[in-house]
Amino acid sequence: MTRDSVPTPALLVDLDAFESNVRAMAGWVTVRGKGWRPHGKTHKCPAIAQRLVDAGASGACTAKLGEAEVFAAHGLRGLLVTTAVVGADKAARAAALAAMAPDTIVVADDLGQVAVLDRAAGEAGVRLRVAVDLYFGRTGVPPGEPACAVARAIDTAPHLAFAGLQAYDATASHTRGAEARRARTTTTMAAAVDTRRRLDADGIACPMVSAGSTGSYRYDADLDGLTELQPGSFIFMDSDYLSIGGDDGGDAYTDFQPALSVVTTVVSVHGDEAIVDGGYKAFATDRPFAPAPIGRPDLAYAWAGDEHGRIDMRRADRRLAVGDRLEFRAPHCDPTVNLYDAIHALRGDTVDAVWAVAARGKSQ
Ligand SMILES: Cc1ncc(COP(=O)(O)O)c(C=O)c1O
Repeated sequence: MTRDSVPTPALLVDLDAFESNVRAMAGWVTVRGKGWRPHGKTHKCPAIAQRLVDAGASGACTAKLGEAEVFAAHGLRGLLVTTAVVGADKAARAAALAAMAPDTIVVADDLGQVAVLDRAAGEAGVRLRVAVDLYFGRTGVPPGEPACAVARAIDTAPHLAFAGLQAYDATASHTRGAEARRARTTTTMAAAVDTRRRLDADGIACPMVSAGSTGSYRYDADLDGLTELQPGSFIFMDSDYLSIGGDDGGDAYTDFQPALSVVTTVVSVHGDEAIVDGGYKAFATDRPFAPAPIGRPDLAYAWAGDEHGRIDMRRADRRLAVGDRLEFRAPHCDPTVNLYDAIHALRGDTVDAVWAVAARGKSQ
């Protein structure tokens, strides 16, 4: 199969760009003495998680238990489920997962849930590793004494082991402008490091402080007290991340290369409009901007329904015809990937591999 014969709409990854991104992240963090556990919520793909481990990652983060179950079934270890596991049913699943993959870590931010996890681990006969999720505006328990109280509860629970702190700051990752991003993450991560210090003073060993993202990794990697980074989008990039601003003060963020695209086919043409076979079901629609036609700044995309997009050809240098193919940069990579069963990995124009998005839809 080649780029021109993949049935559309389809998700493509450029292997040269992907591999360059992986090398860039691996090099940056290892030179600074940090570990990295890239976030699998971006790709939901065991084949990619394995490639990242092969490049030196210690394992994979997953957003949900369901994703972790899929990754574990594919032989991946070193899993960190970054969203709190809430409720007895899910606690039982977490314990079952720990029986299969004992180094799995789940997070908690609530004393009641710590007790639920402890009960489930006891019933399953496992020692479940639990980290405290720190609050920076969404989930988690506030850093400092509130977080230490949850850590103490985990540490003293008979069937749990305290695994450390998770300190992901979603706002830092997409703060526009490099200086503002540096300032935000340096401030919030100082609270995470302070929490670790308090635990040390209490005699509670804190083996992990996991934090960071594609937007903040550069600054987080320099912070003493963080042990590992958990970036996700850097492997693919998307229109949003490509415009958060770089060190030169401009809008472009060039630390990583765009590697992901969606290829569509023109299925109808009317005057100055071409209709492609990619609509709401081909691209995530959570960003305020449309998919960007790659290499065709003379064309503009607008949503035209579930299955279709409308291409404005009024300023076209070259007009499109039925059967032409058009590739786009996705506005937001993670939820776009979740729309596809497979990722076609291209070396140049040749399909080198087809990777199953095996954890697609595993949001429970
Ligand atoms: C908990 C957590 N960690 C890390 C990441 C990775 O962030 P990014 O894709 O911005 O690198 C995310 C992304 O949403 C996340 O939710």
